[in-house]
Formats: sequence, structure tokens, C-alpha cells
Amino acid sequence: MIKTIIEPFKIKSVEPIYFNTREEREAILTKANYNAFTIDAKDVLIDLLTDSGTSAMSSNQWAGIMLGDESYAGSTSFYKFEAAVVDITGMPIVIPTHQGRAAEKILFSIVGGPGKCFISNTLFDTTRANIEYSGAEGIDILCAEGKQPTVPAPFKGNMDIEKLKQLITEKGAENISMVIMTVTNNSGGGQPVSMANIRTVSAICKEHHIPFFIDACRFAENSYFIKLREEGYAHKSVLDIANELFSYADGCTMSAKKDAFANIGGFLALRNPELAVHCRNLLVITEGFPTYGGLAGRDLEAIAIGLREVLDENYLQYRIRSIEYLTNKLIAAGVPVMQPAGGHAVYLDAKAFLSHIPVEQYPGQALVCALYTEGGIRSVEIGSLMFGKYDSDGKLIPAAMELVRLAIPRRVYTQSHIDYVAEVIIEVFEHRDSIKGLMITEEAPLLRHFTAKLVLAK
Ligand code: F0G
Repeated sequence: MIKTIIEPFKIKSVEPIYFNTREEREAILTKANYNAFTIDAKDVLIDLLTDSGTSAMSSNQWAGIMLGDESYAGSTSFYKFEAAVVDITGMPIVIPTHQGRAAEKILFSIVGGPGKCFISNTLFDTTRANIEYSGAEGIDILCAEGKQPTVPAPFKGNMDIEKLKQLITEKGAENISMVIMTVTNNSGGGQPVSMANIRTVSAICKEHHIPFFIDACRFAENSYFIKLREEGYAHKSVLDIANELFSYADGCTMSAKKDAFANIGGFLALRNPELAVHCRNLLVITEGFPTYGGLAGRDLEAIAIGLREVLDENYLQYRIRSIEYLTNKLIAAGVPVMQPAGGHAVYLDAKAFLSHIPVEQYPGQALVCALYTEGGIRSVEIGSLMFGKYDSDGKLIPAAMELVRLAIPRRVYTQSHIDYVAEVIIEVFEHRDSIKGLMITEEAPLLRHFTAKLVLAK
């Protein structure tokens, strides 16, 4: 008999959840201007806003915190951190930063700028913002199957190879700062990228002398998908697969708040010593000395331990299975959900879920609000509120997809929490016709979804 895949941990320390009523949540949501980012955490029952920085650390990581060496220069904790990064990435130069976007800011300030462009399967929102802030352009070329939320395929995070070749011809290799592969593809549904796709993109970049970088936030989840789904990898360890994946790249940026189970931290890893000199110069101005880069010694220690723990295949089996478990429950109830299940989150297809709400009224955000009101669940819209732009007439240019992401924090919620989440979503689906669209009343020029104010559409 096939047995339940259980949580591969016991709980040593717990945090209470505070309960509130639907009426209270309605008032909270109105006060928060229909923006889940402005709801206080204490008013949320199940927080699926992000899997970033929200992991439960292990007893080993907490023990490591006590070992943190807080020396300004040459901290012992830095060398443990560096060794863990080198063992996984094979990249000899490791630059710590306080989180992923700090690594991006440093790198893009050096290689970006007006007239340059960055090509990716899909750039994450802060990554795109850092590129655009440097004056450069960010271009996403996700494969066709990645854009069809409910059509299953094994590697929906892949880059469109033909489009890449076409763009190199159009833009000129010298104007392309770098090609960035996001693994797994967060904004495109947490879908993995195949080793074959990474290998091909790397070869094309080499041929044209374009640097190839990995956005490595969820490298372990991606590596495990390769083990499960790509021919020739079933018998390889996740570490071997990760080693191969990074071997094709010239560098990577990483947010340790994801696959390193840390509450803060990140890094930039490189092979090119000249680029490293420029990066470290900026690091000292913006983050700190090269052996701590904006982190405490105890953070470096926790990351070093987390990077090794995440390679545990019992953990990865449970992790991938728990996302699939929620996805399958929703599919069985007829809820339109991204298929197959991604690595860190379940993505609802809001366009299909709320087909009566036009994209100009942000169906994704309307669904985020409905899930909060119904069950106190906090999620995030990944659609036209996050990525929409305006044309010269002020008309909305919608995002390619209208998704709602339910990101599952690592090692935090149990199966009954997830059962409750499924029940709430199914209940919302059953009365979906009563849900109303939204209108923006105030917004910032960049990353507007964090602070936008909305009201119910008329
Ligand atoms: N790249 C990807 C693919 C990400 O998912 C994130 C963060 C970053 C870069 C930036 O890292 O937060 O440490 O600065 N994603 C979080 C999320 C915020 O909710 O998906 P950071």
C-alpha cells in the first residue's frame, strides 16, 4: 500500500494563529483599500502571501544562530556560507547581500543602463524593476506552453529558444547585458525549467558572448523536478543535478529567503573576477564589507545550514507533494488552477475563475480579496495589477495571465491547514458570480501592487 507522504519534521516550537470573523475581515479589507499587502499579519489566518523569508528554520539552523561569528571582517560564519554556495554552484566568487534584490541591484547597476536589454524566461517583479531602474529593458520570452495555465506540460518554465535567437539578431548581442533564467519560474506559476533548455540557452549565449545568469531562488525545487521529470536524471542526487545546472551559467543571484530556509539573506555568485571587483566596490557602499554584505554572522550561519538541508530528498519529496496535494483537490472540484502543480505555490487562473470580471477590473485582485473575506487567507495577485502598464491613451495593457498565487511557506503549515485552504477556495468558487471587480484609485509608478489603493468597481 502506498503510504501518505508525511511532513519530514516534528514541531518543537509553535506560533498562535488569531481567529477573526467574516464581518471583521470585511472591515479590515475596506480599511486596507482592497490591497492584501496593507493588511496586518495579525489579521491573517493562513498567510500564503509569499514563501519568501517565511520558512520555519530547523533546530540546527537555530543552533547555528548561536554560533554566528559577528566579526566585521573574515567572520568564520562567512567561510561556512561561502563553502556551501561553492559546493552547490561551483562558482568561486561568493558575495553576500541582505536579500536577492540587493544582489540584482548591484549586478544590474554595473551591466545595465540605457540602451541595454535583459532577456529572461520571466523576470520576477523586483528583478524587472531593478533592470528598468537602471534604464535598461527587460524582455520575457516564456515558451508557449507556459502561457496556457490549465494545459499540463513537464517544463512550463522553459525559455522560447527560437525567440531568443530572433532577439539576438534584432537587438544585437552587444546590446544584451545578459540572459537570465529564473528557476523555478515564479511569476509563470512556479514551473520548472528543464536541464536541456538551460544547456541550449547557455550554448547560444556562449556563441554570442552574452553572459548567462541563473536567478536561483528555488534551485533545489527546480533540480528535484528535473530528477522526477527529465530523462537521465532519476538516479542522480539533487546536489549533482544542481551542480550541473549551475555549471552552464556565468553567475547567479539568489534570495536565501526561499530555498535556503532563511528569514533574510541572499548572494551573488560569479566566475568573472573583473566583474567581481566592480560588484564588491558597490557592495561596500551599499551593503557592507565583502565577508558580511548586509548580513549578521548568524544569518550567514543559518543560510549555510539551510542550503545543505534543502538538498534532502525526503524534504523535497514532501515539498513538491504538498503543493500537488492542494492543486489536485482544487482540480477535483473543478477550480481552474495552473497545471501541473508548481514547486512553491498553487496558482489560480483568475481569468477563468471570475470570467464575468473584465481584466480592466483586476479579476486576480478581486479573487485575492474574496479569499481573505471568506477564510482569512492571504494570497497575491500575479496579473495586471502587478504587471499591467498603460498605453499612451492611458488604456490598460494587461498582463499575459491573471493569476492568484497561494505561496506555501516552507515547513510551516500542516496538512489540515492546507485542507482548510482548499475548502475556502472551493466555497468561493461556488459563489463566484457574486464577486465584484475593482478599480485603482491611487498607484505608484513602479511596483504599484505593493501600495495601490482600490475600491469596488461600479
Ligand atoms: N527572484 C525571484 C524569482 C523571486 O521570487 C524573488 C522574490 C526575488 C528574485 C527577489 O528576492 O525578495 O530576497 O529580494 N520573491 C518573493 C516572492 C518576494 O514573494 O516571490 P528578495
